Amino acid sequence: MTIKKIKISNFKSFKNQEVELGKFNILIGANASGKSSFIQVFRFIRDIANHGLDNAISMQGGVEFLRNVNISSSENFSLEFISDEEYKRVATRTKEMGLLGVKIYNTSYKFSLKFKKKGSGFEIIEDQLSQKFYVIKFERKKKKTEEKERIGEGEIRLSNVKGKINISLDLPEKVPLKKEDIIPSFLKEERLTPRNILLEPPFPFFLMPPLFGEIAIYDFDPKLPKKATPITGKAELEEDGSNLSIILKNIIETKNKERELSNFVRDLLPFVDDLDVEKFADKSLLFKLREIYSKKQYLPASLISDGTINITALIIAIYFERKRLTIIEEPERNIHPYLISKIVNMMKDASQKKQIIVTTHNPEVVKHASLEDILLVTRDKEGFSNICRPTEKTEIKTFLENEIGIEELYVQNLLGL
Ligand SMILES: Nc1ncnc2c1ncn2[C@@H]1O[C@H](COP(=O)(O)OP(=O)(O)OP(=O)(O)O)[C@@H](O)[C@H]1O
Ligand SMILES: [Mg+2]
Repeated sequence: MTIKKIKISNFKSFKNQEVELGKFNILIGANASGKSSFIQVFRFIRDIANHGLDNAISMQGGVEFLRNVNISSSENFSLEFISDEEYKRVATRTKEMGLLGVKIYNTSYKFSLKFKKKGSGFEIIEDQLSQKFYVIKFERKKKKTEEKERIGEGEIRLSNVKGKINISLDLPEKVPLKKEDIIPSFLKEERLTPRNILLEPPFPFFLMPPLFGEIAIYDFDPKLPKKATPITGKAELEEDGSNLSIILKNIIETKNKERELSNFVRDLLPFVDDLDVEKFADKSLLFKLREIYSKKQYLPASLISDGTINITALIIAIYFERKRLTIIEEPERNIHPYLISKIVNMMKDASQKKQIIVTTHNPEVVKHASLEDILLVTRDKEGFSNICRPTEKTEIKTFLENEIGIEELYVQNLLGL
């Protein structure tokens, strides 16, 4: 699991919202209910971790559009999340107990901004991180460090108060570890500017779970991969799928990966015989496809169906991109209803290893999902978005008790649309 819970206040269309997430999450709701706004929270976290708070705010359209336009500066913005990602921190050799280290198992982080009455100014009024950990005794075996036993639990708390980092640490009794063994000592000396927080570089690298730079958000446009891509593009799949040819080329170069990809693609699209990538004289790449109907001739990407492109991009995003949290807007776009059940199962299966969030308008997706995976987004009378689990709504519960399937509720427009 990665992000377990998220709380936001005064962000986009949300006033105050708390959401618990599972491994697989499907957001449903009417147009303009707030699904994409919710996805923006994750983009914001990722952008802060990669580019800093100022840039991340700018990428959300500036302070005036980061916060809710109606609440504006009258309330603070805040963002809080809890992650249960487990990861190990440096091991230290101690005289008394040998090689010791810690394994973080719970990270909770919160920051709040108070806005100036006028203009785009703000003040950071809260910025704190707390992490629970196990103290682990390690053992070196054949040049590998292995976990031997857990010898206790502790907690680290860091807070940024007007630029100064305060650190406190709870350690189990009789464990010969010091603050410096767990927290990089340079942090004590570090001073943040009034517009810096603990979630931005360089701190995530030392302090946060590896998750935050590893959030992928996709909103595929199948028309884009039909055009050639310069070979100088990124090695990871772009949000809109435009560099699909580069990613395909990298996969096809490794035999095992190529086999794995063709198996996935053929399972969904049995007419696909081979996928390949062509390199042109101007150093651009474009993928092509051979169908079982005409084995001699490849079809250039421009002639490939939108659904085929979307399915290929989905398979790559789900199984080949090494991201811990994958978010996909409307993955069912251009896909035949029969295949949607397979796509849902594919995402369910992949969510055992990585957390997945999708938005959808499609009853087929809902039909093949489990009820506990669904999050319903609605807007209240004042225009604020609300996210709830359909099972929390009594009227829906009554319907479900009468054995009406959730997809029927959706088709009949009973999910508050
Ligand atoms: N800063 C903001 N303050 C107030 N409202 C906002 C802000 N930013 C966006 N909104 C509103 O939030 C609403 C939700 O938009 P969003 O894009 O999340 O909808 P959606 O559920 O993804 O819809 P669709 O299914 O059509 O994609 C929109 O009406 C938008 O105008
Ligand atoms: Mg949307």
